[in-house]
Amino acid sequence: MTAEALYGGASGRRVTVRDLAAAKARNEKWPMLTAYDALTARVFDEAGIPVLLVGDSAAMVVYGHDSTIPVTVDELIPLTAAVVRGTRRALVVADLPFGSYQASPRAAMETAVRFMKEAGAHAVKLEGGHRILRCVEDLAGAGIPVMGHLGLTPQSVHALGGYRVQGRGEDGERLLQDAKALQSAGAFAIVLECVPADLAARVTAALAVPTIGIGAGPGCDAQVLVWQDMAGLTPSVARFAKRYADAAGLLRQAAADFASEVISGAYPSPEHSYR
Ligand code: KIV
Repeated sequence: MTAEALYGGASGRRVTVRDLAAAKARNEKWPMLTAYDALTARVFDEAGIPVLLVGDSAAMVVYGHDSTIPVTVDELIPLTAAVVRGTRRALVVADLPFGSYQASPRAAMETAVRFMKEAGAHAVKLEGGHRILRCVEDLAGAGIPVMGHLGLTPQSVHALGGYRVQGRGEDGERLLQDAKALQSAGAFAIVLECVPADLAARVTAALAVPTIGIGAGPGCDAQVLVWQDMAGLTPSVARFAKRYADAAGLLRQAAADFASEVISGAYPSPEHSYR
């Protein structure tokens, strides 16, 4: 389901959380991608991606860290603002980074309000289950759409003991209860990262709000990928991340062609010069 279809026509308006709820009711799947800058966001918007996430994965793919933990609110707000400015139709979700909401519901509110006011985000995403329910309730109560995130929650990578599949065995029941609790607290959608496909399908069937899978099999209502993984820019990717292009190869070749034309003098030619 592309943005065009989600709007139910060419009205030109942005996708809303109501559109996503309606898609779930119609049993229609939809794609989500990450985005971190205006031009890439514009391309994905034009491609009909209805929801763009300014993920804290920016820590790795934009800022070069080896986990999502170091990235700050001040680093993510300008990226989120750029994605909002680059798009006309996509719902833009801002990831609240590690340390910006865990301390208290008040901290969560202050951070979310910054993303809404300073960056123009349309929704925020928080990681965790029972421990963040008060935050979700307060944000949703204040009119801020909240996306949940369960399973492999990268901000807790050290507590989880690495990037591993979550929800196997008895943990699956806990994850299902967390998902139900997030929905009751007001989350409009829930990301399920790296969980067994049958568990993700069970959670999806049990919820009225959409689930968004990443490494969670085909049973989710939506699928999300980090765009650099999807387009082949990341050097190595997890098993679940399918590459739909070779962006690294394309850029490498373009840069090599540019270099050789500069060295040979072929660039700039008269057509790229002013009289
Ligand atoms: O930060 C991110 O990119 C994410 C997605 C992987 C869901 O949280």
